[in-house]
Amino acid sequence: MSTIQYDFDTIPDRRNTGSLKWDKYRDSDILPLWVADMDFRAAPEITAALQKRLDHGIFGYTIPYEGPVEAVVRYLEQTHQYTIRDSWLNFLPGLVPAINLCVHAFTKTGDSVMTATPVYPPFLTAPDYAGRELIKVPLCLDTQDRWTFDFEAMESAIQPNTRLLILCSPHNPVGRVFSQAELTTLADFCERHDLILISDEIHCDLVFDPAVSHIVTATLDPSIAQRTITLMAPSKTYNLPGLACAFSVIENAQLRSRFRNAIRGIITEVNCFGYAGCEAAYKLGEPWRQQLLAYLRKNYALVFDFLKSEIPEIRFRKMDATYLAWLDVSALDLENPAKFFEEHGVGLSDGLPFNGSGHVRLNFGCPRERLQEGLARMKKAVDHR
Ligand SMILES: Cc1ncc(COP(=O)(O)O)c(C=O)c1O
Repeated sequence: MSTIQYDFDTIPDRRNTGSLKWDKYRDSDILPLWVADMDFRAAPEITAALQKRLDHGIFGYTIPYEGPVEAVVRYLEQTHQYTIRDSWLNFLPGLVPAINLCVHAFTKTGDSVMTATPVYPPFLTAPDYAGRELIKVPLCLDTQDRWTFDFEAMESAIQPNTRLLILCSPHNPVGRVFSQAELTTLADFCERHDLILISDEIHCDLVFDPAVSHIVTATLDPSIAQRTITLMAPSKTYNLPGLACAFSVIENAQLRSRFRNAIRGIITEVNCFGYAGCEAAYKLGEPWRQQLLAYLRKNYALVFDFLKSEIPEIRFRKMDATYLAWLDVSALDLENPAKFFEEHGVGLSDGLPFNGSGHVRLNFGCPRERLQEGLARMKKAVDHR
């Protein structure tokens, strides 16, 4: 294990860098704690790899070369016990286009797509963009007050025309890492109804609860693997979303070919920096990732404890992964919760696009001092409402 101490405390100035997160509030004193990128510099091992690529000075068309392919294959094997072949991989400039293209590739007009809500908004818009019907089934709470799938409701909602189920695992925004039992029941559901499963596992390396492990859906058994499209990326974990590098793993040759046909001529190649960042992240990023998880664990505890003692009206359930806290603010009885907090200097994600009215999502992937400031502003807002 490395002895380098990485710095997560320094507050970077991200204004006027074209940052989606920061430039939304460029002319106001609003602390952006919304969209899912973190206010941490990337691991120095990654910036060094990018610098090396930059120094080469030639930025031609790039194909998936040995370095990143090998890095992904080895990482999946070592970290997730998922053994894949190079040929199952497809590099992509983002998972949002991949989700949309999956809907086009695996459904036709008149088909429907199921997902469990609340969920990452592009899951909800993709079927509509493709002119397909969307079946939303709300997650429910289990006996331990954790979010889980409502299998009974899913059974009742499924239609003969349902072809696709889109899963977010670990889950954005509720932060759950699903257990083997939950995933197995979900896999059985897909088998029984002959569904193709889009398993978006972009948050799989952000499990900060040491008592919990992520299970790659396709490793459950060979039969679910044959109907699963696994979507992953180094972008969330290593804070590289601007490098636009993601990938799909599709074991089933027929599904792979349908997916490849759908992306032909539409999806651009990943750029040379995306590949370089991806390779460095998976080959050299582990010590940084471990320290990031330790930092996020403390930030999560800070949010949890602060809300419990200072703003008990906000309900925040235990989470296992991600740096995105799903806050139930319905008890505050606010007409527009995101706007309310924005007016009091904190930019949170509105719950509505996630199909979660009465909720906001807070991004705690930032230096602790900034998080404390955001929480203090939230308290002040609630106290003076
Ligand atoms: C579940 C999920 N999928 C995909 C993405 C974004 O993927 P990309 O930036 O590769 O389009 C996010 C970003 O927050 C996400 O939470």
